Order: sequence, then structure tokens, then C-alpha cells
Amino acid sequence: MGNTFLTIDEVAKKLQVTRQTVSKYIINNELNAIKVNKSYRILEDDFINFILSNSTLERPVRFYLKKSRNCILDYDGKVSEHALLSESASGTLTHTDQQHSGPYNSLFFGDNLEVLKILSKELQGKVDLIYIDPPFATGNDFADIDNQHAYSDKLTHNEFIEFIRQRLILLRDILSDKGSIYLHIDKKIGHYIKIVMDEIFGYDNFINDITRIKCNPKNFARNAYGNYSDMILFYAKKRDNNIWNNIKEDLSERKIEELFPKKHPQHGRYTTHPLHAPGETLSGDTGKEWNGLMPPKGRHWRYSREELTRLESLGLIEWSEKGNPRKIVYAKDHAGVKTQDVWEYKDKGLSYSDYPTQKNIDLLNRIILNSSNPGSIVLDCFAGSGTTLIAAAKLNRHWVGIDNSQHAIDTIKKLFNKEDIKYNLFEHVTETHQGIHLTAAH
Ligand SMILES: C[S@@+](CC[C@H](N)C(=O)[O-])C[C@H]1O[C@@H](n2cnc3c(N)ncnc32)[C@H](O)[C@@H]1O
Repeated sequence: MGNTFLTIDEVAKKLQVTRQTVSKYIINNELNAIKVNKSYRILEDDFINFILSNSTLERPVRFYLKKSRNCILDYDGKVSEHALLSESASGTLTHTDQQHSGPYNSLFFGDNLEVLKILSKELQGKVDLIYIDPPFATGNDFADIDNQHAYSDKLTHNEFIEFIRQRLILLRDILSDKGSIYLHIDKKIGHYIKIVMDEIFGYDNFINDITRIKCNPKNFARNAYGNYSDMILFYAKKRDNNIWNNIKEDLSERKIEELFPKKHPQHGRYTTHPLHAPGETLSGDTGKEWNGLMPPKGRHWRYSREELTRLESLGLIEWSEKGNPRKIVYAKDHAGVKTQDVWEYKDKGLSYSDYPTQKNIDLLNRIILNSSNPGSIVLDCFAGSGTTLIAAAKLNRHWVGIDNSQHAIDTIKKLFNKEDIKYNLFEHVTETHQGIHLTAAH
């Protein structure tokens, strides 16, 4: 976010109005300003928010937006950041179930905007990882296999975008400086959300747009390509400062067969690599005779003779019929490959899932292992069946979960009990906020 200040004169010039008009905006609390030594200064972000919330302003002003930022979505009902952040939280959190006395590992039943506002002070700058899988603006109701209502996804267009944007603003402030956020969304609305995330987290903090293969290929009757993927937008609070554990991916069966064509009766698939490399060593160890054998002309041993003897003693050298030694490399010792940005984690069918739109826990394991450390706080404020919370708990992370569906909370409790995960449960009730400590009362 820009921290540049503008003077009243500069604002007047940009808006093509008089100084008096700008002063009027400030007095009427339409434009936020800070008093410095008897004169007013306007934060550039506040100026932009002012422009965004005044759709009647003329074209030159809109042009200023384009110059000052890469891209900003402009739509009806967009609330200024200042207005959102200065609104105090409504209601309070009631502790309804206490299963441990440690910090965090708490589940909140309520609207995430209000709960996040209440928690914002306590969590500010502390959360290392956020994964959210909000509704996707489908206009649908979601129910489980027994037709029990789980949640509604009725907000669409600008209302949906603003719903997500307001939550993202609060989430940005609780992320730690080494934190990351992953937002799961579909491809119909996701590109708008990318622009909103650029606005809130900064274009330069974008890391990946991950394509998630969600189901088997579809045989659409429509005049369209089958849609079998959605997207996960991955941003850092501060690019290149984010926790990154670079967890490698196992080779696929097909790749193993291709790269390791031979089979050992006990140790499985393997291949062999030459033990010599181009270039002659005139007087060094790698140019000398080993096991009665000189390296071929114009080549040298890849390893010292001591290492060659060690490899031989470990049974890691295979001799060809012509007496040529090669190093054995087993598939089981392969370090894995760099994970790319297309992931296949299909959803289970409704009859096999605990909750509609429940995500695959392996997807969450990958995200948590890569972008947090043991002891990190992981937060999901659209928790659903608690996939993120369960993965975090099992990987020794602290977690915070929020959902406003009774069915979601009941499902999480059931799954926590099954996995023996201890939690504290709070309910958001609409009374005056008294303050909350995530450390349970002793
Ligand atoms: C797509 S589901 C999440 C599924 C979850 N990732 C899982 O694996 O089970 C979205 C969830 O967001 C919740 N939700 C929607 N609006 C909310 C709000 N304003 N506050 C809190 N939760 C909300 C819904 O109740 C629903 O459980």
C-alpha cells in the first residue's frame, strides 16, 4: 500500500476542484485526512478510496487511478479501507466448550467478518498461513447427502467481490511478515478476485495461480470444453520473505518406469550411471587404476578410488558382461521433483464426503508443509468440515477456524473427536464486544 501523502492543494488539482471543496470533503468525513502542523495531509490510499467511492467524479480522476496502481476494480458498494478498519466489531465471543488450556486451536462459530474484527488485535502479524475456500458466487444452496442444509452461496457479482475483499483486508493485517495466503476459487469469478488480491496484498506479492484438477474429465453436452479444474491464488505478505520449505513431489509411476527401467528383486526399480566422465586426470587420484581397471582413454573416474571401493562394498556397482562398472541408482532414493503449479487433488463424491465441497486433505498437507513450520498459526475462516484445521493439527501447527454454519461446526466437532483433536469453541453473539484472549481461561 502507498504511504505517500498529498496536500490539500495537490488533491484539489487532481480533482479539478477548489481548496474549499476539498476542505468540505474533509469536514464532512468523506475524505480522510491527518492534521500535521496546522495543515492537512491526505494519505494516497485514502485519496484513492475517496475516488472509488465517488462514482460521479470525472474521467481525469479515474485516469489518476490507472497511473497510481496497476489495476483496481471499481464497482458499486465498494467500502473504503479506512471506513472498514475504523468500524468497531459488533457482538462478543462466548466460550462454549473448553477442551484444552493452551493458546489458539480454537473454533469460532459466527460470521467471519465480525469474528476477525474481534480477533484482529490478538492475531495481528502472527498468522503464518491462511487458506480459504469461500463460496464461489454460484448462487446455489449446498446440502449433504441426506439433504441437510450446509450453507448458502447466494452473493454474486459486485456483492460477492466486496464480501471477499472486506475479509481479505482483515486477513492481510493478521498475516505475519513471513506469512502466505492461499485463496481457493473457481475460474468464473477467480480472475476478479486476483485483481482484488493485487489491490490488497500488492501485485508484487503474487506468487502462483495454481490450477487444481478437481474431478475426472467431464463430457459436457454444452458447446464448451470440459471444466475440470479450479484455481488457488497464492500470495505472500512480503514476497521472498515467506516461509517456503520446497517440499518435493514423488515421481509418478510412469516416470519411475521411464527413468528406472531395471528391477532389483529386493530394492525395486533402478537405473545405472557411468562411473567415468570426459577429461583425463594426469596425476590425480581419479586418473589412476582402480580394481585392476584404468578409466577409458580421455576420461577420469567420477569419484575418488576410496569412494569407488565404498560403493562396491555397498553393492552399488553393477558390472556389465564386458567388465564395465556402472553406479546403481535406486528409484526409492530419488529426492523427488520440484512441485509445479498444476495439482491433481480430486474432490470425493458427495456420498463419500463429510460435508459438501469438502477439500482433499492431501491438498492442505502440501500447502501447510510448504508454507508454514511446526508451531506456526494456520487460519481458515471458511472452515467448512475443518480440512485445514485437521491437517494443521496433525502437522503440529496451531490453528484457528471460523465458520457460520451450524452444520459445518457439527461436522468439524465430529471429525475432531474421531481424530482426537482437542479444541476450544467460541460462539459469536451479537452483543457489545468485551475483548477476547485466545488463551483459554485457566
Ligand atoms: C466451500 S465451503 C469450505 C469447505 C472446506 N474447505 C472443507 O474442506 O470442508 C465454504 C464454507 O464457508 C462458510 N461461510 C460462508 N460464509 C461465511 C461467513 N460469512 N462467515 C463464516 N463462514 C462462512 C460456509 O458455511 C462453508 O462451510
